[in-house]
Amino acid sequence: MTIAIDVHLDADAAARMARDVRAGLCDYPKELAPKYFYDDRGSRLFEQITELPEYYPTRAEREILEQRSGEILDAAGCPSTLTELGSGSAAKTRHLLSAMRDRNSLHTYVPVDISEEITHRTAAELVDEYPGLNVHGLVCDFEQYLERIPHGTDRRMIAFLGGTIGNLYPRPRQDFLERIAALLGPSDHLLLGTDLIKDRARLEAAYDDSAGITAEFNKNVLAVLNEEFDADFDLDAFEHVARYDAEAERMDIRLRSLADQEVRLEGLDLDVPFAAGEEMRTEISTKFSRERLESVYAGAGLELRGWFTDADGDYALSLAGVA
Ligand code: TRP
Repeated sequence: MTIAIDVHLDADAAARMARDVRAGLCDYPKELAPKYFYDDRGSRLFEQITELPEYYPTRAEREILEQRSGEILDAAGCPSTLTELGSGSAAKTRHLLSAMRDRNSLHTYVPVDISEEITHRTAAELVDEYPGLNVHGLVCDFEQYLERIPHGTDRRMIAFLGGTIGNLYPRPRQDFLERIAALLGPSDHLLLGTDLIKDRARLEAAYDDSAGITAEFNKNVLAVLNEEFDADFDLDAFEHVARYDAEAERMDIRLRSLADQEVRLEGLDLDVPFAAGEEMRTEISTKFSRERLESVYAGAGLELRGWFTDADGDYALSLAGVA
């Protein structure tokens, strides 16, 4: 058993964030990139979201992995390397690793995550829990370093869980899937988590819970900007908005200014006016049908090879291979 962790943390990350934030705040309509939600407080709030009664996706995905990991691995031809984009604590991944062990195919786990600390901790835990396992991790922003991900053995499965693909706009989503397709050999698979289209009330409740945790999470991005750029956003002067856009088939999540106001970002030497009622988008979360996902795959040179949902049909894990 071996552990190797490569770190590609980027000296330009701060400069890139400054450029992104400036461009988004000067655009009309205004928009902020969702990756800036996740400072320590944001990550803790998101953990709480995953346990809310209204937020079903995490539980549905866990149910599928608990009950159907064996089926998924058989359909993927019993891979020996599992690569996971955004691996974190690998809580749900253990179901896949255990099913690989039960099939005697478990060889290498390749966790890819932005947090160095959690990747080291997870790697150490896993080599303990799975004797003989090789862990070859990568600490990076995986959108940037996709091509640098270690290959492992010849039968690979690349898992991208949590429905994060739904947070990309159609064009970057296609680019990203094309880059994944380029990494896949003829017997390799992508395992992708996607939330499914359902009635508006349940979707909107999942992104606007009665305890107000999601609202707090959404507004936390303003606290991140206050901290990073010495800005003076008043979190109480904005409200959380979560609407399902049925035509685009996605949740549209925004912050709405409650008053005419001007915000100063000292670190960017920037003053940003907000009109009363003006909305700034902070995230989209696309919801899929099987048909839509098939056409998204086709657009990236992939084909659907397996479809696994929870008992209620709320969420899907799908397998795709190179078409
Ligand atoms: N990627 C998650 C999702 O689309 C993140 C998320 C959950 C989220 N609730 C949110 C992002 C509220 C912004 C606001 O489900």
